[in-house]
Amino acid sequence: MSKRHLPPGPRHPFLPGGALLEQLRDSLGFLQRTARDHGDLTYFRVGFDHVALFNHPDLVEEVLVTRAKEFEPAQVMVEAQRVIGKVLLTAEGDLHRRQRRLLQHAFMRENIREYAPEMVRHAVQARNRWNADEPLDMAHEMMRLTLGIASQTLFGVDIEDSATEFSAAFNEAAWYVGMMSYIPHGGALSHLPLPGMRHFHQASERLHAAAADVIARRRKLGEKRGDLLSMLIHSHEAGGPTADVEIGNEVLAILMAGHETTARCLTWTWYLLSQHPEVEARWHAEIDALGGRPPTVDDVPNLRYTEMIVAESLRIFPPIFSLERRATADYPVRDYVVPAGTTVIVSPFVMHRTPAWFPDPEKFDPERMTPEARAARPRYSYFPFGGGQRQCVGEPFAWTEASLVLTTLGQKWRPRLVPGHPIVPEPMMTLRPRDGLPMTLEARR
Ligand code: HEM
Repeated sequence: MSKRHLPPGPRHPFLPGGALLEQLRDSLGFLQRTARDHGDLTYFRVGFDHVALFNHPDLVEEVLVTRAKEFEPAQVMVEAQRVIGKVLLTAEGDLHRRQRRLLQHAFMRENIREYAPEMVRHAVQARNRWNADEPLDMAHEMMRLTLGIASQTLFGVDIEDSATEFSAAFNEAAWYVGMMSYIPHGGALSHLPLPGMRHFHQASERLHAAAADVIARRRKLGEKRGDLLSMLIHSHEAGGPTADVEIGNEVLAILMAGHETTARCLTWTWYLLSQHPEVEARWHAEIDALGGRPPTVDDVPNLRYTEMIVAESLRIFPPIFSLERRATADYPVRDYVVPAGTTVIVSPFVMHRTPAWFPDPEKFDPERMTPEARAARPRYSYFPFGGGQRQCVGEPFAWTEASLVLTTLGQKWRPRLVPGHPIVPEPMMTLRPRDGLPMTLEARR
């Protein structure tokens, strides 16, 4: 066979925008159907974009690890730079490597040990604030909690109370970034006086004001601690007038990357636990073995079933549902060539629901996540934290936070879904329950 063929995939000969409408209406369903009907290497058009979906563990490993150099950040990251500049999340090459070396330090095991008591303290505060008479929106509660934890542990100030405004501004900016990435040179529109653009600029300003507030409050506190903010300030000490803007961008990016993802993971986990009382009962037995005292970081390795539950929740509802890259040159793969400039998608959501790796994929079954079961599957059949040089730098933070927060809250409360509430996964910047997660609380003790 000639090496010049495009991979198979849905073709829309009469629609110049290809799968744009389907993609906008139900992007994850569309990707799942494409992989199911056309195989694990597919190619199609979305608007002006040429897109390939790679849905085999070996292909994912190529994109993220072994052939990562053949890709650059996708358009969505280029657009994101309009909000947060070139920070760890969006930078490439040497700048990315430098930023990563600097920030990695804050996520090392010793530092996470120091953050753990703050994680538990925030969760204790939440469980004491909750009461059995009032339903709450668990999606919002988890955002509030993780924003408080990330801002306190990494930057030394607690902005939990700003969670509502921060999330609203973040969602507006994220919506813009998503939309602009569909349009070639779409970012140029941001310079035009269009009504939507005004909202975007306002949202972006609100986010930057929040970051500036974190830095100002922290500077007022004065002490030079070894947390992430002091590292950032220190690294920019000779940085001149742009330093505060750059530090602000990095603060914003970490808050954005670090709180919403974990909040979604926790939210989906509460939902799944509420639907599977047998799993929940076994989980209660594990956390009740602590005898009611709040957990510490030393308990985390023993909270094995908690970890399996979180891992399985990240399989079914991966907060980062797809990762995108752009091929810098023609990319030969198997018997095909993916053309230069194509957006290549590898999707944890689609892969984690592929029956070849996870039979009966919709079923919530933490037993899939025993160390033995995991070792029996290919490495990149499961990648909620990505992989390779851009693998989530906050992964150890996230695992510790998830275990400690779930345990602390679960010791006191048993959240139940408000009956009849629809649960529809919605892929915005992260995968979230479209209509929130209203829950009532049963007291456990
Ligand atoms: C359950 C929680 C989390 C999930 C599912 C998650 C997922 C991911 C994924 C998939 C990536 C790779 C993106 C790509 O390759 O394009 C990533 C990158 C990143 N994550 Fe996370 N993340 C989580 C928690 C966190 C936390 C708690 C922090 C920080 C406090 C964080 C900070 C970052 C940063 C800075 C990057 C960019 C790394 C780089 O480009 O070198 N994440 N995350």
